[in-house]
Amino acid sequence: MAKKILPDKKGLFYPTEEIKKRSWVNNKKIYEEADKNPIKFWEKVASELFWKKKWQKAFEHKPPFFKWFLGGKLNITENALDGNLPKRKDKPAFIWEPEPTNEKPRILTYGDLLKEVNKFANALKKLGVKKGDKVGIYMPMIPEVIISMLACARIGAVYSVVFSAFSPSALKIRLQIIEAKVLITADGYYRRGKPINLKESADEGIKETMVKKVIVVKRVGNKINWDAKKDLWWHECVKNQSENCPAVAMNSEDLLFILFTSGTTGTPKGCEHVCGGYMVQAYWTGKLIFDLHEETIFWSTADIGWITGATYSCYSPLLNGTTFILYEGCPDWPAFDRWAQIIEKYKVTVFYTAPTAIRMFMKYGSDLVKKYSFNSLKLLGSVGEPIDEAAWNWYFQKVGKGRCLIVDTWWQTETGGILITSLPGIGPFKPAFSGLPLPGVRFDILDEKKKRPPIGEQGNLILLPPFAPGLLRGTYKDPKKYLETYWSQYGKKIYFTSDAALKDKNGLIRIVGRVDDVIKVAGHRLSTGEMEAVINLHPEVVECAVLGIPDKIKGEVPIAFVVPEDKSPCPALRDKVINQVRREIGSIATLKEVYVVEDLPKTRSGKIMRRILRKLSTGEELGDLSTLSNPESVGKIQIIIKNANKI
Ligand code: PRX
Repeated sequence: MAKKILPDKKGLFYPTEEIKKRSWVNNKKIYEEADKNPIKFWEKVASELFWKKKWQKAFEHKPPFFKWFLGGKLNITENALDGNLPKRKDKPAFIWEPEPTNEKPRILTYGDLLKEVNKFANALKKLGVKKGDKVGIYMPMIPEVIISMLACARIGAVYSVVFSAFSPSALKIRLQIIEAKVLITADGYYRRGKPINLKESADEGIKETMVKKVIVVKRVGNKINWDAKKDLWWHECVKNQSENCPAVAMNSEDLLFILFTSGTTGTPKGCEHVCGGYMVQAYWTGKLIFDLHEETIFWSTADIGWITGATYSCYSPLLNGTTFILYEGCPDWPAFDRWAQIIEKYKVTVFYTAPTAIRMFMKYGSDLVKKYSFNSLKLLGSVGEPIDEAAWNWYFQKVGKGRCLIVDTWWQTETGGILITSLPGIGPFKPAFSGLPLPGVRFDILDEKKKRPPIGEQGNLILLPPFAPGLLRGTYKDPKKYLETYWSQYGKKIYFTSDAALKDKNGLIRIVGRVDDVIKVAGHRLSTGEMEAVINLHPEVVECAVLGIPDKIKGEVPIAFVVPEDKSPCPALRDKVINQVRREIGSIATLKEVYVVEDLPKTRSGKIMRRILRKLSTGEELGDLSTLSNPESVGKIQIIIKNANKI
């Protein structure tokens, strides 16, 4: 039995001798070595992988643009699949756990996975998909989603995964931007025991797009509409396809995938991730941070529609020859402890989830997890939103049983892979702190005037050159957005993360939260601007403001204030607005409350004062209202909120 990890006098946690011994890296000299020459350091990491042709130049910087491993040629699937074959042909690459408990899991060995990927890659080729073509993937957590991503990568098609719980409208706008020719989807999937008809959403989402063919996986066997001109069954596409398919040689800077994320404006932006840099970072961060070894069983609970899914529920474990778990459903279905059962069933050694999930497990009570020994666990991870001390302690004591360190990993869709967390073989760890930037990665915290705030005070988190190989190279078809979002606040040589953070005296970083219009709802990234744009489309709404307020379980939840067209709006307006957002974005964007108000508090220049609305909804002290052009609106909103909360 592993030893308990106890904090030192300063409240810091360090790895035990046993943990140090088994970790890939346990000497803090790595930080110095990497900092001396980060480019050389990343080159060393990249050399651990197979390149069809070695790069000629490691890094090029023409601010705000930069490139890594120039002249290098590779195919990520050769590293993720072929490279594992000599040793791991019969080793499970991943184990798929369906949500219904009466269904059997599916195990795909590295050998099986390569064959399936090749067959599907050949099927795509038969449909005319070539290098550089765009493919949409709108799929649940089933084995075929992994196969689809890898098959596209195999032939150099650029794919974009769209979260399966996103609405048809959200799918449509993404497919339109990338001009996808092919969409891969499924008839349905299970969510809390209920079959969800995904094909119906896909049918709606492809209207007014360039999608010519839709490949459908038969997962549920539900009744779906079928358009014989467009629709093809997956199983028929792969029938009789060869199990061999050469991996296309990709340039290091060729696009691998585009993943859309929310920002300040109404439309989502497509983050461009490239073959070489992304591969290096996905490989290295998994190895170093999750300490992936031959015997590791890794479970990242994130959905494949988000960057955590892409990097840590697919590429990172495969690039490290590790076995991972892919779970179709909700972690608390059919009972609150489904997640705990999965850990025990598969002897998971590294468990990676979001604070929202941890808080949800906590809510069910510690007694309920007592019966699980979690003996297999060696390391825990957290991602996506700040983890508060209470959740950290519960996770550490009740899941890790005081024997597992917690890597609180900070990163973003844009960064492609983790960039801040202390390392399990080195430490230190401190509750609610992400810790140190990775070796070879330079972060700083600056205030608005480009000065470092004093220790313990917050400022903006920024990333300095040479950045990291996995950082996005652009926002698809929108270079202006790229420049404005990341390279304007501190100039073209400093990447602005949009996060506020602080450093303690040990140099450990704590992420405070976003400084833009992004809110994190249950770890999911949503834009209040996008929700406002959707609400404003409603004919009965004149204007609105959406903001995030704290929530005990989900971290944050969105609420809206709407000004109706009609002075005496129909009582159903509240529900109409909620439905509008659900329909246009998806159920994850469900508004917790909608307040129908006469007027929104505004400055004299007409700017909506969201700060005041936030204080009104959380009951905080309002402070100075003298800058408002309509201070009378505040009292009226106060009454509306009070009355709504009474109901
Ligand atoms: O605000 C930070 C928060 O999530 C944002 C990025 O969201 P997304 O692109 O959806 O990627 C999430 C998964 C990588 C960040 O700007 N965030 C991410 N990790 C942490 C975090 N906040 C606090 N602690 C973290 N560990």
